[in-house]
Amino acid sequence: MAGSSRKKLLLMGRSGSGKSSMRSIIFSNYSAFDTRRLGATIDVEHSHLRFLGHMTLNLWDCGGQDVFIDNYFSTQKDHIFRMVEVLIHVFDVGSKKLAKDIDIFQKCIKNLREFSPDAKVFVLLHKMDLMQLNKRDEIFNTMMKTLEEHAVPFGFTIRGFQTSIWDESLYKAWSSIVCSLIPNMTAIQNHLKSFAEISEAQEAVLFEKTTFLVISHASATAEGDENLDPKRFEKISNIIKTYKQSCSKMKSQLKRLTLHGHNCSAYIDNLTGNTFIMVVMPPREAHEGTFCDDDGSVIVTNIRAAREWFE
Ligand code: GTP
Ligand code: MG
Repeated sequence: MAGSSRKKLLLMGRSGSGKSSMRSIIFSNYSAFDTRRLGATIDVEHSHLRFLGHMTLNLWDCGGQDVFIDNYFSTQKDHIFRMVEVLIHVFDVGSKKLAKDIDIFQKCIKNLREFSPDAKVFVLLHKMDLMQLNKRDEIFNTMMKTLEEHAVPFGFTIRGFQTSIWDESLYKAWSSIVCSLIPNMTAIQNHLKSFAEISEAQEAVLFEKTTFLVISHASATAEGDENLDPKRFEKISNIIKTYKQSCSKMKSQLKRLTLHGHNCSAYIDNLTGNTFIMVVMPPREAHEGTFCDDDGSVIVTNIRAAREWFE
């Protein structure tokens, strides 16, 4: 994971759609409750975030009040839309001004086409918690169809997510966004797969250390297992991130965590300076004589041995 690279991410969308909230939760350890005290963003707020050691995410959180948006599309357009790697457009699904929201999206796409035609485009249909559970997919599909109609003529394919700060959905979306920026993803994926096979793990999951976003996961046995919760990765991100925050309030740091359940044991440990790994082992009796000891010392040794693959 050597070399250094800066990636510009534009966070766009109308005022109040939730841009600064999600940024603060994922990158600045805010809880969902903390976001209520955020004020409207004035102009553009820049954050520079180290990610996986070698990558710097330059997050441009663009205030969404009309006066600022007008400037992005006129006097500032070159400055805003040049060298963009990723556009993350946030929509408030409960917005009463849908036509205006779409108009802003279309203008973003037009400018992106001019200044950063190779950028990736993600749309987050946000505040889904405010919609009835049984209506969410329908709302999402209808909106995605409309947005695609606006993006495709400009040569962009878009990826969309339903998100809310009140559940783990935000982690899934942001994991996909940052993973799209990691250049050596295939190598990471292959190393993790080998690690899972050699350790005879049910599953191995790689997390970025500060955000706890999932970078990759591999499985020797769990793939396609319908009994497993498909949202398990983002749920773990959410739970461990909250746990880490509790640890830091008590002036301690999460270093290693072992959990024993009926069906498996999970070991969470530092892998490299920038990553944590979670190794899920089958129950002991299913694994007699192999790697699943109670205190996890064999797993810890395996993790240590695998470290150099991921450095
Ligand atoms: P500007 O800076 O003016 O462009 O707004 P913004 O897009 O940054 O909005 P901000 O993050 O400040 O959020 C506005 C309000 O929406 C805050 O009170 C948040 O608590 C709330 N909010 C953010 N995300 C969600 C969500 O997923 N669900 C619900 N119900 N409220 C949310
Ligand atoms: Mg804001």
